Amino acid sequence: MSILKSQHANGGEYKRIAVEMKGIVKRFPGIVANDNIDLTVYEGEVHGLLGENGAGKTTLMNILYGQLKLDSGEIYLWGERVSSWSPKKALQRGIVMVAQHFRLIPRLTVLENIMLGVIGSGKRISRHQLSVKVKEIEERYGLKVNLDNYVWQLTAGEKQRVELIRALVMDARLIILDEPTTVLTPIESKTLFKILRKLAGEKKTIIFITHKLWEALEACDRITVLRKGRKVGTLDRESASQEVLTHMMFGQAIEDIALYRNSHRKSCESDKAVLSVRDLWVKSDKGYWAVRGVGFEVYRCEVLGIVGIAGNGQEELVEAIVGLRKKERGVIVKDGLDITNLSVRELILRGISYVPEDRLERGVARGLSVAENLALKSYWKPPFARKHLVNWEQIHRHAEVLVGRFQIKAPGVKAPVETLSGGNIQRLILARELTVGPQLLVAHNPTFGLDLKSTIEFHKEILALVERGGSVILVTEELEEALALSNRIAVMFDGMMLGPFKRDEVNRELIGYLMTTGRLPERKKVKLAVPDRSRES
Ligand SMILES: Nc1ncnc2c1ncn2[C@@H]1O[C@H](COP(=O)(O)OP(=O)(O)O)[C@@H](O)[C@H]1O
Ligand SMILES: [Mg+2]
Repeated sequence: MSILKSQHANGGEYKRIAVEMKGIVKRFPGIVANDNIDLTVYEGEVHGLLGENGAGKTTLMNILYGQLKLDSGEIYLWGERVSSWSPKKALQRGIVMVAQHFRLIPRLTVLENIMLGVIGSGKRISRHQLSVKVKEIEERYGLKVNLDNYVWQLTAGEKQRVELIRALVMDARLIILDEPTTVLTPIESKTLFKILRKLAGEKKTIIFITHKLWEALEACDRITVLRKGRKVGTLDRESASQEVLTHMMFGQAIEDIALYRNSHRKSCESDKAVLSVRDLWVKSDKGYWAVRGVGFEVYRCEVLGIVGIAGNGQEELVEAIVGLRKKERGVIVKDGLDITNLSVRELILRGISYVPEDRLERGVARGLSVAENLALKSYWKPPFARKHLVNWEQIHRHAEVLVGRFQIKAPGVKAPVETLSGGNIQRLILARELTVGPQLLVAHNPTFGLDLKSTIEFHKEILALVERGGSVILVTEELEEALALSNRIAVMFDGMMLGPFKRDEVNRELIGYLMTTGRLPERKKVKLAVPDRSRES
C-alpha cells in the first residue's frame, strides 16, 4: 500500500502527488543533460514539460520511465520510493511513455502491436477480449483505428493514436507524451488536447512534453520549464503567460521573426521556371490515388509554399518529385530536361535536395556517425574522395564546421547520429541539404519539432538560398510559416492542387478555408487550376 502524500494546492483542495523526482542528475559524455532537477506532478493533472530542443526533457522522462539510469537523485511514485527501475517495472506500475519516435513494429498489425504491449506489461488477455476493450476505448475517447491495418500503412498521426490506445488498454495511470503534436495537424492536436483533458478528469496523470509555448498554455494545468538541463520553475496555468514562459525558456527576448522575414522576401523571376510538374498522378501505399492530376511550376528565386491538412497527398507528391515514389502518369521537367524517371542519385546530381518529414527513417542513416551523415550526399566527390579513396580527415573537418554553424548539439562528430535529440537530427539534415549547393530544395515540414531559435535560423537559410538564385518547395502544415516565407502558396486537398496563388492575393482565412473545404468561397474570383478528374480510374 502506498503512502498517501498530500499537499495544500489551489482552492484548499488536497491533491495527491503522483510523481516526485528529486535532485535528478544525468550526464552524457561532454554534457549534463539533467542538472539537479526536481519535479512534482499531481494526480489528475496535465503537466507540461516545456523547453527548447536539448533542454533535457526527453532525458528526464526516459529516467522516469526506466529507459535511462540516473547518475543521482530519487524518484517517488504515488509516495513510494522507486529503486532498480526499468521500463518493464514502470509498465507494471502503470506508466506508459508515447515516445517521439514510435516503438511500434511496422510489419505487424495494429491489433498485434497492442497485444504485444499488453503481454509486455505482464497481463493476459485473449484476442477477443482485446478487441472488445479497444472498441470501448475508441468510443469513449473518439480514438478511431482499424485493428487489421499493418502499422507500416499508418500515418504518423495514426501511429500515435495506436500508442495511446495501447496505453489505455494497459490501464496506464501515468501517460508521458513526448512532443506528441509534432506529427499532428492543428485540428488533430486540438482533439488530442480534449482527450488529455478527459483522461485527467478520470484521475489519470499526464506529462506532456513540448517546446511550443502556446501548446503548453492551451493544454496544461501546470507547466515546468527546463533550460539547458536545469529546471527554471513550475507555474500554474493562471500565472503563466507567453511573455513569462518565453523569458523562462530562453532567458532573453527574441527578435521579431515576422518583421525579419517580411523585409527579406523578394520577388521571384516568374519568367524562369526551374521545375515544371504536369498532370502528375501518384498512388499511395494503400493503392488509391493520392495525387490526382497535379500541375504547377516553380520559378527561380522563389519559395513555393504547399499547405494542406496531412493526408491530402502532400507526402506522395513530395516523394514523387524527389524520386522516391513511382509516377503513374505525368511529366516533371527541370531546366528543360525531362527528369520524370531519374533515380534519387541522379536527381541529387541535378541539384535537387530533400528534407524529409520522417527524419529518422529517411533523413539519416541510423547506424552512421554525425560526420558520415553530414557527408552522405557528397562522400563520393572531391574534396571527400579522390580516386575512390575516402578522405576521413576532410569529412571530419567538414562536419566540425557544420556542427558549429548549424548549432548541432552532439557529443562529437564521431558519435552515432542516433544519440542526438530529434531537433538536432533535423538541424543535421538541414545542414547537409543546404550545403550541397542545391538549386531546388524540397522540404517537408522542415521546422516541425524545432525550437524557435532553430526555426528562425532555418528560415534565414531558406531566404539566403533564394537570394543566391535557388528555389524552394516548402510543404508545411504550419500555415504561419508558409505565409511568412512563400512567394506563392498552393493548397493540397483530396489529391488535387488549388493554386498556386500569389502571396498578396491570399490571407490566412482564405487559405484555411481552402484547406478545410477544398474550394473557394462563392464571392472570390480567383482562377483555379482545376485538374481533369475524368481520367481517374
Ligand atoms: N543517449 C545520449 N547520449 C549522449 N547525449 C545525449 C543522449 N541523449 C540525449 N543527449 C544529449 O542530452 C541533451 C538533452 O537532450 P534531450 O533530453 O533529448 O533534450 P530535449 O528532449 O529537451 O530536446 C542534448 O544535448 C542531447 O544531445
Ligand atoms: Mg526531446
